Amino acid sequence: MTEERLEGGYVDGAVRVGDTVRRLAGPWTPAVHALLAHLTDKGFTGAPRPLGIDEQGREVLTFLEGDTIGHRKPRPAWVHAEDTLDQVARWLRDCHQAVADFVPPPGAVWRGGRSWSPGLVIVHNDAAIHNAAWHQGRLTGFFDWDFAGPATPEWDLAIAAFSWVPLHVRWLVAAEGFTDFASRPRRLGRFLRTYGWPGTAGEFLDVVEARITAHANGIRDNAAAGDEASRRLLSQGVPDALDQAIAELASFPR
Ligand SMILES: Nc1ncnc2c1ncn2[C@@H]1O[C@H](COP(=O)(O)OP(=O)(O)O)[C@@H](O)[C@H]1O
Ligand SMILES: [Mg+2]
Repeated sequence: MTEERLEGGYVDGAVRVGDTVRRLAGPWTPAVHALLAHLTDKGFTGAPRPLGIDEQGREVLTFLEGDTIGHRKPRPAWVHAEDTLDQVARWLRDCHQAVADFVPPPGAVWRGGRSWSPGLVIVHNDAAIHNAAWHQGRLTGFFDWDFAGPATPEWDLAIAAFSWVPLHVRWLVAAEGFTDFASRPRRLGRFLRTYGWPGTAGEFLDVVEARITAHANGIRDNAAAGDEASRRLLSQGVPDALDQAIAELASFPR
């Protein structure tokens, strides 16, 4: 069957073969597939289903139908619609409910997150715009579960809000077509209400700051350790832009 290189991707990318997607597997793949199988068993449809490993050693997943943004700028209109924000918040709420009783396989290896301890769940860790599929006005779900791992639900919520509200640095989101900065406190409030976040926006912004700091430092550490994808992100200035975003968030209305 023919292979089609899918547009987008920040790490290793993906190819489509029929109704399946093939991606580079890693030590984390068995744990990720156990997680995706659990989501399938729970009737959660907003994630690819795992279909095993192919003859080339790549992971095989179902293809999520719909539009993905790849590296397109400006973003298509659905990305910044308020209804999209609601759908993303509901996706996170439902996903966190579905993973609540997931028991990782013994010896599970995760690429993302910290080591598991009671109170943590396994979250997506990168439910950002570039990992979403959108079909006929509905969020189909999120792909790219490589960085799934143990974390608190709010840790997952933070990276999603950062991407979708958006809370990233102004020059960067403006280049992506988002310039309605005055709407951001309202959009953040809406996102948190739809999810059911019990705290204040100010408390949440503290979590965002910690989450984004960890993300920037993670890229720097992994690049220093020789990780190819992280070195690329470093040379593109990604951690520096994250630092700028955190500095800007200090004056975000709380
Ligand atoms: N399960 C999937 N369903 C639909 N499209 C997918 C799926 N997985 C990946 N893609 C497509 O492949 C592109 C790159 O995939 P991704 O898994 O995010 O790679 P990376 O790990 O490099 O970020 C995405 O932009 C998307 O278009
Ligand atoms: Mg990706």
